[in-house]
Amino acid sequence: MAEVSAATQMGKIRSFEKGFVAMHLVNLGAKLGFLEALNNAKEGMTAADLAASLGLHEPYVTIWCQTAYHFEILDCDDKGRFVLQPFMDEVLGDTKNPRNYLANIALDVDHLGRMLTGGVGYFKTGSRTPFFDSPERSAAGYAVTKNMALVFQFMIFPKHEYLKQSLEQGIRCLDIGCGDGALMIGLAKAFPNSTFVGVNPDRYGIEAAKSRVSKLGLDQRVSVENMGGQDLPYKNEFDIATLVVTLHEIFLEVRTEVVERAYEALNPGGRIVILDLLYPSKLEDFRDPMYDFGIMDQFYETCMGTVHFNSSEQDALLVNAGFKDIQRSYVGKGMFELIVAAK
Ligand SMILES: C[S@@+](CC[C@H](N)C(=O)[O-])C[C@H]1O[C@@H](n2cnc3c(N)ncnc32)[C@H](O)[C@@H]1O
Repeated sequence: MAEVSAATQMGKIRSFEKGFVAMHLVNLGAKLGFLEALNNAKEGMTAADLAASLGLHEPYVTIWCQTAYHFEILDCDDKGRFVLQPFMDEVLGDTKNPRNYLANIALDVDHLGRMLTGGVGYFKTGSRTPFFDSPERSAAGYAVTKNMALVFQFMIFPKHEYLKQSLEQGIRCLDIGCGDGALMIGLAKAFPNSTFVGVNPDRYGIEAAKSRVSKLGLDQRVSVENMGGQDLPYKNEFDIATLVVTLHEIFLEVRTEVVERAYEALNPGGRIVILDLLYPSKLEDFRDPMYDFGIMDQFYETCMGTVHFNSSEQDALLVNAGFKDIQRSYVGKGMFELIVAAK
């Protein structure tokens, strides 16, 4: 291990500072249209062209381009034309690309970052700030999970054939914490024999889901209810109940009840399917990179009342509700863990 000195510690903190500035630069570049323009102009654009095409103040645009060059997000040719570095078109350019990270950066900078700057009071009292309290925040939250159906299709079904086969044959699925319905809609399109019911206490997510479902003409097979999982009224009605990046956001005071209601909603032999970020059980694992996403998510969402459970806490929750045969597997090189348990 390299020797630790005041200089190396200063270097560590400076690298965090650079990351912070870089995230703001990218977020601003997305908002101002630079990233889209540069993604479309494969031959590159000078700062002057970029400013003129977007009707912006050229000296500021020049600073943005030079700084993005400094961060090695952009390259520049000998005619002064800036281009996105190789593969940055996937990560920061084409918003349709599943790798595109702009929604995550916008959520971090515009919403979670702002929430944390006002966090001092919450740390004093332990009170919570609501997150899904405006259509904008709700949409920003779901923009980062919009590709969950692809995660199921390409990362989960190949390892869990029976889930895919059941959906192909035709089953009833309950999505608890269904966001704006993106997962149910993606699965409903892929599996025309199955039906889906989604519940979510976030009314903006439910409104977005309703309007997408009806635009796509899926009303016969996809329906949504504006309620928390603790209010689920169903008994022996579903073959699968999913909680996708949702368990950690369910407040502790109702979490047990949600899992109990999910158990009741399932048919005997039905499965609960939980996809969530990994969270360490012991302190030494807080430096294990496999937990990066869970640790960052927990910190960012502290004041929202998020509490990530580690694997033993999740197991206890499931077993106490009556679930058995708990199976775990990593998804996306360990970014997520999939837990499947049977009623
Ligand atoms: C990170 S979002 C994930 C949404 C969706 N599953 C997706 O993948 O896009 C977490 C969701 O959990 C929902 N949630 C929070 N408390 C809940 C509860 N008590 N019951 C059901 N859902 C809840 C939130 O409203 C939010 O929609």
